[in-house]
Amino acid sequence: MKEVRIGMIGLGGMARYHLNQFKEVPGVRIAALCDVSAEALAEVGGNFGVPESRRYQSFEALIRDPEVDGIVSVTPNQTHAIILKACIEAGKPLFAEKPLTRTYEEAVEVLELYRRNPVPCMINFSYRYGAGFQLAKSLIQEGRLGRINHLFVQYLQSWGGVPYNTPYVWRFDDAVAGTGTLGDLGSHMIDLAEYVTGSDISELQSILTTIVPERPDPQTGKTMAVRVDDFACFQATFTDGSVGVFQTSRNAIGTGNQHEITIYGDLGTLHASTLNDRELKWTYAKEGEPNFVTETIEVPADKALHPWRSFADLVRGEQQQNPGFATLEDGYRNQRVLEAVVRSHQTRSAVSVHTIK
Ligand SMILES: NC(=O)c1ccc[n+]([C@@H]2O[C@H](COP(=O)([O-])OP(=O)(O)OC[C@H]3O[C@@H](n4cnc5c(N)ncnc54)[C@H](O)[C@@H]3O)[C@@H](O)[C@H]2O)c1
Repeated sequence: MKEVRIGMIGLGGMARYHLNQFKEVPGVRIAALCDVSAEALAEVGGNFGVPESRRYQSFEALIRDPEVDGIVSVTPNQTHAIILKACIEAGKPLFAEKPLTRTYEEAVEVLELYRRNPVPCMINFSYRYGAGFQLAKSLIQEGRLGRINHLFVQYLQSWGGVPYNTPYVWRFDDAVAGTGTLGDLGSHMIDLAEYVTGSDISELQSILTTIVPERPDPQTGKTMAVRVDDFACFQATFTDGSVGVFQTSRNAIGTGNQHEITIYGDLGTLHASTLNDRELKWTYAKEGEPNFVTETIEVPADKALHPWRSFADLVRGEQQQNPGFATLEDGYRNQRVLEAVVRSHQTRSAVSVHTIK
């Protein structure tokens, strides 16, 4: 098996998760690292045995390194477009974090470049890999729900809530993040709903709000204005005629990492949630029963996808396409829906996604 040499850009919270997952993939070596933080480089470099000569503070240098076969990019959002473009120009396969970019304009530039010079690429809309959501998709494809009429999606976290007095971080800065919980958690909700149902959002109407408008700077103690949303909701129509209601929050006290979807079809209702990703709830008319019944469907663990293994295959050229994984085109479409949510809020009106050019 050909060895795959991975270069990791950004060594913060999410990168640590990627690095641990790659440990399970045979034939993969973490060959190079990049972070603007010398401390992070030293720590992760030491843990993964990456020589000092391959610990970079410039992502351009890592991308140029001929001993890097594939790149995993896990940096804050304002660097997504520039790293994507540099990888595309260098012809380096890329596994990139969501949201695709900070702004819609950046996504258009990236897409245009990618269409001229396509490289193997996966965008990390990670929830779609989960065993429960994979099973939900399979059941819908089998026709278990019949026609889908409506759905409810929510992605709730609590870490921004008032009692936590969470300090100011890049996720609250529009110049870095673009949007707040919308691009962070909302991008996952949009991907999940479209992926599981197989239908795209066509039109929507939204409300964004900032529940906690100021936060303390952890270095200076100064009060910083929050310029992004920390709650977002919208209602949407899908191309198949169904409708959906979406909400996401960083201030939902009592939630952990609660991402869930309930899909209402002609034949029944299916519910899948990260709160219990080994079970789905299925309500339907069971033969011989006078009333609808709700049953638990056990989710086989082997339903989950393993993107790190698939990325290694993609880099080796053993897999032309990445079935089940979000492509750069999917990332672009996701960014277009995010833009529609922003414009709908700004104009207080419904926005058709296809009108966004
Ligand atoms: N798919 C998911 O489920 C998921 C979960 C969490 C985060 N994410 C995404 O991952 C990305 C990073 O999030 P995080 O939580 O790891 O953030 P983080 O703040 O914990 O880490 C970011 C790291 O990038 C480094 N960095 C910043 N600018 C850089 C640059 N120009 N070059 C190299 N390194 C740079 C920082 O020093 C830091 O170590 C975000 O885009 C976020 O949306 C995705």
